[in-house]
Amino acid sequence: MVTFILLGTIVSNVCAYKSYSKHQLWRLHVENNEQVAKLLEFSRIAHLHDINFWSEEFRMNMPIDISIPPEAIDSFSEYLSSNDDKIKYDVVMNDIGAVIDRQKLLHKLRPSTFNADDFAYDKYHTLEDIHAWIDKMVQTYPTLASTFTVGQSYEKRDMKGLKISSSKLATKRDGTPVNQKKAVWWDGGIHAREWISPATNIFIAHTLLSNYSKDPTITHLVDQFDYYILPVFNVDGYAYTWSKDRLWRKTRSKTIIPLCFGADPNRNWDYKWCEGGASRDPCSDTYCGGKPFSEIETVQVSKFIGAHNDTIVHYINFHSYSQLWMTPWGYTTKKPDQFKLQDDGSAAAVDALGAVFGTQYVHGNIGATIYVASGNTVDWTSGTANVTFSYAVELRDTGEYGFLLPEDQIIPTGQETLAGELALLKYIEGHVYA
Ligand SMILES: *[C@@H]1O[C@H](CO)[C@@H](O)[C@H](O)[C@H]1NC(C)=O
Ligand SMILES: *[C@@H]1O[C@H](CO)[C@@H](O)[C@H](O)[C@H]1NC(C)=O
Ligand SMILES: *[C@@H]1O[C@H](CO)[C@@H](O)[C@H](O)[C@H]1NC(C)=O
Ligand SMILES: [Zn+2]
Repeated sequence: MVTFILLGTIVSNVCAYKSYSKHQLWRLHVENNEQVAKLLEFSRIAHLHDINFWSEEFRMNMPIDISIPPEAIDSFSEYLSSNDDKIKYDVVMNDIGAVIDRQKLLHKLRPSTFNADDFAYDKYHTLEDIHAWIDKMVQTYPTLASTFTVGQSYEKRDMKGLKISSSKLATKRDGTPVNQKKAVWWDGGIHAREWISPATNIFIAHTLLSNYSKDPTITHLVDQFDYYILPVFNVDGYAYTWSKDRLWRKTRSKTIIPLCFGADPNRNWDYKWCEGGASRDPCSDTYCGGKPFSEIETVQVSKFIGAHNDTIVHYINFHSYSQLWMTPWGYTTKKPDQFKLQDDGSAAAVDALGAVFGTQYVHGNIGATIYVASGNTVDWTSGTANVTFSYAVELRDTGEYGFLLPEDQIIPTGQETLAGELALLKYIEGHVYA
């Protein structure tokens, strides 16, 4: 009988959707290196208190966003002011759970205003719906669209993508045709909770398909490149954000610690693996994995890119949030030799992006401008696979909603990001078809 009750408790815990009721989001203002060190030390035990860093790294003069459960609010506040050198903070969100609940309700109640092809482009979607949408695109645009898969995830979900490819030959600037068409890879959802990134890939893919042969710029750029688009990279984590925990980030593989799951798929690549800005603690959100490429998802994408790097010249790993258009390296603050070539593309992208609604992006190399993060995706695509135009993009916003970007920002984010991307593609086209 006792066993039964215990089992019942465990099962009900496992099945419940994680509550963030009365959890607060704090923005910390770190002013010196001692404060950075203090938070770094704290971050190693934060999960024991259910405290979660929304910001990936800590640096002086950069805001650090952290979620705090109600039972830790007083003690964490005391901890921050425990020295004379008090760490200042603002409460950005009073009740994260209430924001999640309101968004769920709006998702159900608000009629979609954007219903082309029977798919609500202004809403977030489950993995099943996204995969059904890919099939729908292939049915609707059979001469342009096809599916591809890079295999199955740890929990045996398909890592399903959409390929866009026209039958026209690519051309040089003077109009002469070239034999081998270059290709582009974009993905979203490598971090499960960053829902705007799959939604943006979906919006952009649909615009390329539906405006082909209508809009001259889009028609031209669809003829110039083949597009491999993987809207949801971390399929298991993404499914988990819909069924169990809206703020889950990592994969869902087992680790050596029974209650801690998953590795950070953006710290798991075998280029300068776990050298800095990554954790060896399986309970950490930036856990690099037990070894490089411990995660089946990163292995499979790396194999696909490696097998197609005779054509793939451009990679984007879409994330949120912070509004950044970044290039390698992540593992060091140093810049690669081709930094200017890469970063000039970022500059073109953020200019065009900002011209749409005035949204401001910062660009630069990951390590110096933003944070050191080793074993990351674009260091590998650039450093190992030699994909020159490799970018990591952090989409909207700058922390007002963070990962919980409301659905009414999906279309504007898609529109401005598309404008940035079209400018970047024109820039890349000028270099690869010279
Ligand atoms: C794509 O087409 C739609 C209508 O089909 C139009 O409203 C939209 O402006 C077009 N987008 C671009 C970028 O040309
Ligand atoms: C393609 O990627 C593989 C890694 O998978 C790398 O070893 C190889 O050098 C790359 N080829 C080119 C032409 O860059
Ligand atoms: C990497 O790509 C550049 C530009 O496409 C090319 O010149 C170079 O030979 C490639 N390096 C390797 C190792 O394949
Ligand atoms: Zn991310």
